[in-house]
Amino acid sequence: MTVLSPIRLGVNIDHVATLRNARGGRHPDPLRAAQVAVASGADGITAHLREDRRHIRDADMERLRGHLTVPLNMEMAATREMVEIALRLKPHATCLVPERREERTTEGGLDVAGQRDELAPAVRALGAAGIRVSMFIAPEPIQLDAAVAVGAAVVELHTGAWCDAVAAGDRVAAASEFGRIVQAARGARERGLEVHAGHGLDPLTAETIAALPEVVELNIGHWLVAEAVFDGLDGTIRRMLAAMRRGRAKAVAP
Ligand code: PXP
Repeated sequence: MTVLSPIRLGVNIDHVATLRNARGGRHPDPLRAAQVAVASGADGITAHLREDRRHIRDADMERLRGHLTVPLNMEMAATREMVEIALRLKPHATCLVPERREERTTEGGLDVAGQRDELAPAVRALGAAGIRVSMFIAPEPIQLDAAVAVGAAVVELHTGAWCDAVAAGDRVAAASEFGRIVQAARGARERGLEVHAGHGLDPLTAETIAALPEVVELNIGHWLVAEAVFDGLDGTIRRMLAAMRRGRAKAVAP
């Protein structure tokens, strides 16, 4: 009998930093939020050091790296500057994402297929330093093939389009987007990639995704930080973990 892998929650704390930066002071502290998240059951912490430092800053990454007792996943663009920072910080993992200055959040997946030659050296350098490398991609076979070709160990499937369709109540689009995620999760496992997922998830969509046996990690930020305004971070994270457990209980081993 195949044993089903448990599913992990990586809590993305970027928007705690967004709130702090709105006033320019130190409150709320992203490290404190990360520590609450860990105490509430988060398996890892994710932070995106963007080129424009609009939320997480270099000093936040240093403090997270220095104090966290769970894996730190650094989201980053595959630029020379960010690769150098990652090689110095040595987080447990990096997730390579596309970045455009004018976007509000990471809008699409990384076009690994179109940028193989640029991405491969970054993946090699990070991997050689013992850092797990994930590629944040749209759920498309061509991107899975490219992720394998550049030597990535992990793909994070972009769930944004599906979550948008669910939120809009567009059942046809939601079913079609979810079908792409299911196929990509299977395809990734068949290619030997570890499968993560994230973007736009709330408890309902996280429960649904957690039922896919190939998916072993979800990275969730905005909903958790936003809902914490009403319910506190601890209660919000526990609610998310409960939803993920409910979903996992429905998963059937492949
Ligand atoms: N995964 C990746 C690669 C992301 O860029 C983001 C957004 O920063 C997330 C997950 C989390 O998305 P959300 O904040 O919508 O939960």
